[in-house]
Amino acid sequence: MIEDSLFDESMDENNMPDVNTSAPKESDSIPNTIAIDGPAASGKSTLGKRVADKLGYLFFDTGVMYRAITWVALQKQVDLEDESRVTHLAQHTALDIQSPSRDDGRQCDILADGVDITWEIRTPEVDRNVSLVSSYAGVREALTLQQRKIGERGQVVMMGRDIGTVVLPDADLKIYLDASAEVRAQRRHAEILKRGEKSDQDQVLEGMHKRDRFDSTRKIAPLKPAEDAIIINSDNLNEEQVLLQVLFLITQRSRHQE
Ligand code: CDP
Repeated sequence: MIEDSLFDESMDENNMPDVNTSAPKESDSIPNTIAIDGPAASGKSTLGKRVADKLGYLFFDTGVMYRAITWVALQKQVDLEDESRVTHLAQHTALDIQSPSRDDGRQCDILADGVDITWEIRTPEVDRNVSLVSSYAGVREALTLQQRKIGERGQVVMMGRDIGTVVLPDADLKIYLDASAEVRAQRRHAEILKRGEKSDQDQVLEGMHKRDRFDSTRKIAPLKPAEDAIIINSDNLNEEQVLLQVLFLITQRSRHQE
């Protein structure tokens, strides 16, 4: 059974940290759509990729779409305060996410109108501006539509801020991955250094606070856990322990019967 093969021999189920789960359902089929939401650098991408690989599902990080539109707008020197121009860009830019073409640490290739912008979308300038771009109703509408289409095909692990609340409100399993701003800033700082770039941890923390505030207070699709999401705080858990908790939850959940 898939459920048995989810756990590697190296993973010790008995050592799993406590987790608050709701009662298992009767069927034993695995969740078809898995939503992972949470603030910046809470570990969503690493977790999502590992869960998707385990299940043979599509891994889809929706944040890259908002980042890509932000990068395109900056590149074209569009005034980011000009909501209608930014929205027009979101509606007319062809975004494509493909399997990785290079072995340079990327999880996939991100293309905007055919141009590979996989690393460009991770710059501090994009970090600083992406929350403004993603607060625009028209931008969200254009991107949510594409995300939902992909999600509705099933066999997907989708990450973002509003997946469980707006994009896939009927997702079979919803995880909200949280961590304190300090821990998240430490992780993001280490990620940037690992890419060989300069980083200042205090600045990373400050930027993270700003983005959290912006994302969670915006009017449309704010960052918040769905009512039926399971909240995992990863402050004191390593990647492996978070993965174990989620695999455990997966074995407990059944696919929604249509
Ligand atoms: O990787 P990190 O956690 O820093 O952020 P991300 O997931 O790449 O998302 C970048 C930004 O896109 C977030 O700060 C949000 O403003 C926006 N976003 C969103 O509004 N809705 C989503 N479903 C995903 C990202």
